[in-house]
Amino acid sequence: MKGKGTFDVIVIGGGPGGYVAAIRAAQLGAKVLLIEKDQLGGTCVNRGCIPTKAMLADANLYDHAKRSSVLKMENLRVDMKQLLSRKNEVVKRMTTGIQFLIRNNEITFSQGRAKFVDRTTIEVEGEKGREQFNRQKIIIATGSVSAQIPNIDVDGKVILTSTEMLELSSIPKELIIIGGGVIGMEFACLFNSLGSKVTVIEMLPEIISTEDGEVIRGLTTLLKKKNIQILTDTKVKEAKVKKGRAEVTVVDKEGKEVLFKTEKALMAVGRSPYADGLGLEKINLAFNGKFIKVNEKMETNIPGIYAIGDVTGKQMLAHKASAEGIVAAENASGHQTHADYSKIPNCIYTFPEVASIGLTEKQAKENGLQVRIGRYPFQSNGRALAMGDSEGFVKVIADKDLGQVVGVHILGGHATDMIGGPVLAMGLETTVEEMGKTIQAHPTLNEALSEAALDAIKEAIHLPKKK
Ligand code: NAI
Repeated sequence: MKGKGTFDVIVIGGGPGGYVAAIRAAQLGAKVLLIEKDQLGGTCVNRGCIPTKAMLADANLYDHAKRSSVLKMENLRVDMKQLLSRKNEVVKRMTTGIQFLIRNNEITFSQGRAKFVDRTTIEVEGEKGREQFNRQKIIIATGSVSAQIPNIDVDGKVILTSTEMLELSSIPKELIIIGGGVIGMEFACLFNSLGSKVTVIEMLPEIISTEDGEVIRGLTTLLKKKNIQILTDTKVKEAKVKKGRAEVTVVDKEGKEVLFKTEKALMAVGRSPYADGLGLEKINLAFNGKFIKVNEKMETNIPGIYAIGDVTGKQMLAHKASAEGIVAAENASGHQTHADYSKIPNCIYTFPEVASIGLTEKQAKENGLQVRIGRYPFQSNGRALAMGDSEGFVKVIADKDLGQVVGVHILGGHATDMIGGPVLAMGLETTVEEMGKTIQAHPTLNEALSEAALDAIKEAIHLPKKK
């Protein structure tokens, strides 16, 4: 029934890109339709950020309890059924919250699979059958799925993606992780803490290779101490399920083929954009490789059609998708907004955590910047010692002449909570002097941020004199 519903803005995909875009467009007065084929919240809420963080929180608790010299608990063990049920409860709270926000903003929600009929009409196939909607503007926010590589036979039971890992009802004795990126290392820490013997296989010379070199080396050393085996410069050539176990063939540093046999294997080699069945070929949408091509206003090559989030590439991060959603919604509502990718924080929920914003030391030097660098170890921070969580450090990189902070890198137990200060500092183009002289409360981990900034100008109070 063409013309049944006419909307100012139609958003396809209800993840952190799409639902945020829908809310922003509604705030600006648009009549909005949001279409989602599964649950609101997308990968982030249902199969990614949120469930993994719920599981990691329990694993972290277990890890601390095991290591504590004070807690004396006989037969300490993890109840996997309870862990999964708490994780599911957290996810449910989040999806219910988003449903409320959609209703509260008077957004029309359509559950079903959307496809383009033509450049201005969308058909949704759902429980109510087929419905067609006309639009003024459309925002594509269909996200991504786990990338597949040839010769790795993911069966979802023995060789799994992160989605199936979140439903494992027992802790595997051995786990091989293919790919030492963000997903691989978070799962490595999760299952190492729960008791699995974990081996990570990474084809590059380093794990989490986009982070600062000192952070990578620091994390690698700490994880090896926890008995996580990390094989770098080692490429997985093939992985097959044989007799209920995974057989993983790798090519090692010397070019030799080595066969590993393991109870479970996780495939974490990146994510691919997802736009299956949308009918984009019918409307001649332009692509940049596998990704939908957009400009800084999130406009595609077709006037009135925008795309945001993982389906457009760059960093595949929920907060980047949300920021792009706001840009697209504002432009679709007649404002003029641009995306700025220079100050997007990264957080990795390993044990200890990693958080960063801005340039790494290597990137700063490659950009021809003369830099000053300040560092501060958590071992010298009273709160970190008191919490029994004093591994890691803060590193601040600043422009040598102007003093402007160009990068902050944190390795430590609460790095992902601490990065908020540096995000604001860099957003306000703060200098290293201003950051160092900001009075942080005592005793807090944030004092390490000020001290690292002061170290860059040789004025740290709680460090030996710097020449
Ligand atoms: P990734 O791109 O971070 O890492 C994949 C790794 O697999 C790379 O280091 C790559 O060199 C390696 N690899 C590829 N083929 C291989 C082979 N044949 N043998 C051995 N190693 C191989 O991708 P990942 O970890 O799957 O994450 C996907 C996306 O999800 C990322 O963009 C990430 O930013 C995002 N994400 C973000 C999280 C966060 O913000 N905390 C958490 C989880 C995912």
